[in-house]
Amino acid sequence: MIGQGGCSNFVVILHGTYRRTGLTEPESPLSIPCDMLVFGGTGDLALHKLLPALYHLHRDARLHRDTRILALARTSYSREAYQNLAERRCRAQVARSDFNHETWRSFAERLDYFVMDAAQSADFSKLARHLGNSERVRVYYLATAPSLFQDIASHLANAGLATAPARIVLEKPIGHSLESARAINAAIGAVFDEHRVFRIDHYLGKETVQNLMALRFANALFEPVWRAGYIDHVQISVCETLGVENRGAYYDHAGAMRDMLQNHLLQLLCLVAMEAPVRFDAESVRNEKVKVLEALKPISGLDVQDKTVRGQYTAGKIGGQDVPAYYFEKNVDNDSDTETFVAVQVEIDNWRWAGVPFYLRTGKRLARKTSEILIQFKPVPHRLFAEGQANQLLIRLQPEERISLQLMAKHPGKGMHLNPVELDLNLANAFNKQRRWDAYERLLLDVIEGDSTLFMRRDEVEAAWSWVDPILQGWHQHYQSPRPYPAGSDGPEQLQHLLERHGRHWAE
Ligand code: BG6
Repeated sequence: MIGQGGCSNFVVILHGTYRRTGLTEPESPLSIPCDMLVFGGTGDLALHKLLPALYHLHRDARLHRDTRILALARTSYSREAYQNLAERRCRAQVARSDFNHETWRSFAERLDYFVMDAAQSADFSKLARHLGNSERVRVYYLATAPSLFQDIASHLANAGLATAPARIVLEKPIGHSLESARAINAAIGAVFDEHRVFRIDHYLGKETVQNLMALRFANALFEPVWRAGYIDHVQISVCETLGVENRGAYYDHAGAMRDMLQNHLLQLLCLVAMEAPVRFDAESVRNEKVKVLEALKPISGLDVQDKTVRGQYTAGKIGGQDVPAYYFEKNVDNDSDTETFVAVQVEIDNWRWAGVPFYLRTGKRLARKTSEILIQFKPVPHRLFAEGQANQLLIRLQPEERISLQLMAKHPGKGMHLNPVELDLNLANAFNKQRRWDAYERLLLDVIEGDSTLFMRRDEVEAAWSWVDPILQGWHQHYQSPRPYPAGSDGPEQLQHLLERHGRHWAE
């Protein structure tokens, strides 16, 4: 049973002066006490991401001593059996040096399990009885299929569990189209006020993604050249070596467009393209991101053939091991035409970005895992030297967190020969090799503390769908089936054409 108490502490903090101040905060105080309820408690997201993140927060004394975690799912486990399962799965996710059994035992004291069917309203009355009358903040984390979001919200309301300050966290993708996203948002909005809804996109919790805002808005250096006239184009690439793992049933209905581009890549694009917010707070930051999404030039009808590339992986090798074609993956239809790769040429119709293409690509089973943003500057207007190469700024999110600026420099010795060199900042080294927080650690703390700056607002999600929907429809209308690419390659051949026809090249 989840314990009670600690509410006075919560009230003081909520109505007092404490607020997270954002990116530059060196240490955050202990978070307020809460009951964290995880729907989908036996799923991969809960066991691979959420519990390991909570374990780290516990280990680093970031959770209030009275914070409790309740995993909810249909499978009948005792508390002890669930804790054993959770320990096995967390141990596999957490670095060996960060995991020890003693710490796990003290973490497990917070961890309970409750058997329930989230589709059954009667089970929510049982849940309410189980929780009792705690006045602590409740956080409902919906690590479930989006099709359950509406039911869970209304069952919570009917059982009297949704009153303020309870918060709800929704995992992306929110719906599978604009219409379904609107329906989900309306149903959630009928129960939770917008400031209590946290639509998570874990890319926003990544350190380097937040560093992008620091780079742009805390350094005067870049602003004058961060625009058309100086920038030739931008590339945003999120390449994975993983296939669909155990998620075939979900993925086969989603595909790379809904799973990655509609959210993670568009969020990265927003951070590159947005204007400086007036303040670093939830409303100001999100207002600016929405403006970018609203300025995206629509891609519809036959444009999809020109401006998008869809791909699907066939059999190949990853790390020297044979891997099967996508359509032979577990729970995937053998005739599936779901894309596991997508690339899009995006234009932003506003003053700053007129005429500057943003090329986005993401895919599974590619040659290497990397997430990066490349800002390709224009060449100097008047060429003095024989050799010349336009500057590039590379912001790498993973595997290592790096920001590097490529400049031209004179080769030592006689004559005036130039070579490209790099100003290279490794963020882990710059901060004394401190362990980098996983995105979910940062975001879970923000939810507990009620800071929604790094979460997607309702209109933001809907604006992203408004732009994505016509592409999905265009693919459907013009039957643009995915181009095959072998697992372990760089993607379909047509990918190169998207840039080469404009005399550009993808970053290696
Ligand atoms: C998730 C997608 O949101 O992000 C997965 O659903 C994808 O398909 C994952 O593998 C990638 O996240 P990261 O942090 O490993 O780049």
